[in-house]
Amino acid sequence: FSIIEAYPYETIDKIANFLLERTKLRPKIGIICGSGLGHLADNLTDADSFSYEDIPNFPVSTVEGHAGKMIFGLLDGIPVMCMQGRFHYYEGYSLAKCAMPVRVMKLVGCTHLIATNAAGGLNSNYNVGDIMIVKDHINIMGFAGNSPLQGPNDTRFGSRFPPMCRAYDPEYIKVAQKVGEEIGMEIHTGVYICVGGPNYETVAELKMWKLLGVDAVGMSTVHEVITARHCDMKVFAFSLITNKCETEYESHEETNHDDVVTIGLKRRDLLTKYVTKMVDEINES
Ligand code: 6GU
Repeated sequence: FSIIEAYPYETIDKIANFLLERTKLRPKIGIICGSGLGHLADNLTDADSFSYEDIPNFPVSTVEGHAGKMIFGLLDGIPVMCMQGRFHYYEGYSLAKCAMPVRVMKLVGCTHLIATNAAGGLNSNYNVGDIMIVKDHINIMGFAGNSPLQGPNDTRFGSRFPPMCRAYDPEYIKVAQKVGEEIGMEIHTGVYICVGGPNYETVAELKMWKLLGVDAVGMSTVHEVITARHCDMKVFAFSLITNKCETEYESHEETNHDDVVTIGLKRRDLLTKYVTKMVDEINES
């Protein structure tokens, strides 16, 4: 297991061309569906679907509740490409490998990334089923010396030292708040942290994140966003709050994966509406 496991530009280009030769769609927007959010891709029309195992050089996702398909299709008439199931660090892939599909999206022609995830809510105003628009992240895995951009830099993707301020497009954050209100969702805007997992956090760990200004905790997205910003894609991301993080020892609430998936299904129709409207807005921007 190599820490870097970088995919050369040529390999990613081959994957992109493999897909482009098999679909007529030319999406500008790539969407990553998080845990319990895979149904977002079921709403695509005129879809061309590719199982990860059928795409040369593609990893295969191993998590229950994550399907493992790249789906091209129309969402409200707009071409998009959707990852139904993503790759997580806890599966044993390097961060570069986890985020590699973002570069595939880039070489397919996507200029925009919508990243979604299921997350635990640390902010005490957040309730199960709420949406948190990600306004910023804390790359705690980066603090520990781990980054999807480690290793030789290929300037065909981006620069060696990419900035990460305004990683989450401020315009889309505003639009996403407006769209949330329009469809009557409880909408928050906050800071996301990605931890390696697969275990959920201890009370002491959650207290620490809270103290540091974190609003939601998950196990994805940050390395994908870093990779997208490196290659100059515009990013919009949101978390579905699937559980409240308990920061008191007295509480007996425990997070489990089944609840995480179930909440996504419960909010299915509203989330579909939300993503569809955001795709409309991004398409018009
Ligand atoms: Cl509480 N923690 C993490 N790391 N990921 C989650 C979660 C919690 N709830 C959903 N995903």
